[in-house]
Amino acid sequence: MEYKIGLIGCGTVGQGFLKILEKKRGYLKERLDFEVKIVAINDKLKGSLLIPEGIKVEKILQLLEQGKKIDEYLEGKPNEARQIDPLEMIEKCDADIIAELTYTDIKTAEPATNYIKKAFQTGKHVVTSNKGPAALNYRELKKLAQENNLFFGIEGTVMSGTPVFSLFENGLAGNKIKEINGILNGTTNFILSKMEIENMDYEDALGLAQKLGYAEADPTADVEGYDALAKIVILSNVFLEGNIKPSDAKREGITSLSKQEILAAKGEGYRYKLIASTKKENGQIQAGVSPQKLPLSDPLAGIMGANNALTFDLDLLGKVTIQGPGAGKIETGYSILTDMLTIHRHLAK
Ligand code: HSE
Repeated sequence: MEYKIGLIGCGTVGQGFLKILEKKRGYLKERLDFEVKIVAINDKLKGSLLIPEGIKVEKILQLLEQGKKIDEYLEGKPNEARQIDPLEMIEKCDADIIAELTYTDIKTAEPATNYIKKAFQTGKHVVTSNKGPAALNYRELKKLAQENNLFFGIEGTVMSGTPVFSLFENGLAGNKIKEINGILNGTTNFILSKMEIENMDYEDALGLAQKLGYAEADPTADVEGYDALAKIVILSNVFLEGNIKPSDAKREGITSLSKQEILAAKGEGYRYKLIASTKKENGQIQAGVSPQKLPLSDPLAGIMGANNALTFDLDLLGKVTIQGPGAGKIETGYSILTDMLTIHRHLAK
């Protein structure tokens, strides 16, 4: 089956997704009967294209690698899409699925929420790695998707492409969650690891995390805990049927933690980690993010670098931990593919 895709946003995640398509096209077709035709790309900085016959992924990647705008794809021919804004593009393009990959604004969740609504209103499935809409408007968007018989995929919002939502919905279905604890921000885990193991300074470690594409456009979101907070809010609302906002949860980042404290903890056999947790008590969600000093025997203490991990404490199984990449170009690009494959599995039945 072939799916027509519109990409709204073509930064780190969009390019990671395109790279995977380039590499895995044959495998996806032969093994999974899954094919993709990119019909639209709209990126605020890199330009826009609307080509119903399909856009060549290799050529787009080449232009982007050369630092060129994607408009150059048309080699001087007029490009109407240049004048079209994302909302109009979503409406006009004949896509089956919109991949909403614009930047996360955790305070307003815009403009992404409007883009997602427009996609549902015009009969398109949505997959996204954008934490804003999932953290602030999950219920409303999920309802809109269901009313229109469409899929709203948010796998990439927590732990990048490491499966969290599909794990719970499939392999862990039937369990009730007592508590969730996790390391949900790759940048801060990377920084803490570099400071402790390589004795690196905070600024250098942050610079490296930015260079590797782990950090948010504004890294304050990472180091002050807002990113992990958004993720634990998403998990609270999706898994614990909460209806909380980021302002309902406690937040403390890693900036108040000094290298001396990190190294002193190491000397005592402990390790600092930025832990996000949530549980429901008397019908109320208790969620928060804070640095915690864990004994080395704790499974979360062993998670290093940009990796993330999540421990589900379940009524039937007890503790189940999943560990994997939590950030990165290909890693988050993969989350877009995995949500599309979920759509494919449902539609191909
Ligand atoms: N900035 C985020 C992190 C990216 O470091 O985890 C993935 O959400």
